[in-house]
Amino acid sequence: MSLTGLFLVLFLVVHLAGNLQLLLDDGGEAFNVYTKKMTTSPIIKVISYGNYFFILLHAFQGILLYFKNRKARGSEAYAVKVTKAVNTNSFAASNMAWLGLLILVFLGIHMGDFWYQMKWGEVPTVVYHGDTYENLYLKVEASFSNIWIVLFYCLSMLGLAFHLTHGFQSAFQSLGLNHPKYSPFIRGVGKVIGVIIPIGFAIIPLYYFFLK
Ligand code: HEM
Repeated sequence: MSLTGLFLVLFLVVHLAGNLQLLLDDGGEAFNVYTKKMTTSPIIKVISYGNYFFILLHAFQGILLYFKNRKARGSEAYAVKVTKAVNTNSFAASNMAWLGLLILVFLGIHMGDFWYQMKWGEVPTVVYHGDTYENLYLKVEASFSNIWIVLFYCLSMLGLAFHLTHGFQSAFQSLGLNHPKYSPFIRGVGKVIGVIIPIGFAIIPLYYFFLK
């Protein structure tokens, strides 16, 4: 789970960097050019398939772990939780499976809305400098003009924030990469990543809804 989780963090950083181009005032040109590159490059295609596989594997491992922990613990909650380098008493630590489920539901809706439309739906095209591109920017604009979609994205990003903040530090602990000197640093990086990535994603629907 640690390795698949850390790979998915890397995916999120790249995906966020690409999506932040939606904040440029260029009518969607940079974003449309970027999405075409991401979907036509053979190397990116291989990484994409790896990414789908890791998402499914991570979710499957999470479900197994959830049931394993439940079985080990019975119906009784721990009277006292052992304190490790990672805080196991936090809201995030106690709800990782539910937060993961929220993100999985988010992914189902998100990919149905964008990824499926791009691969199998009818997306209008646009021409830049003589080349034709799918105008996925119009799809983004349409989705983020819907208050319910915007609220759902923001709620999901809150869930992602908790999931990432705990998951990042927990991954290092599971890999045995604990050290009294470095653990506080890893925890700090986890907090920064867990806050900055979800805020970065949430800004996009909020910007489209309120400022476009
Ligand atoms: C404002 C927020 C977001 C926007 C505008 C956005 C936009 C898009 C678009 C346009 C695509 C299809 C084109 C492409 O592959 O680049 C896509 C695919 C995808 N998105 Fe997002 N996304 C957002 C947030 C997220 C978040 C938070 C996650 C994960 C938690 C996520 C996970 C994915 C995945 C897994 C794919 C499929 C990628 C692939 O085919 O390799 N997205 N997104």
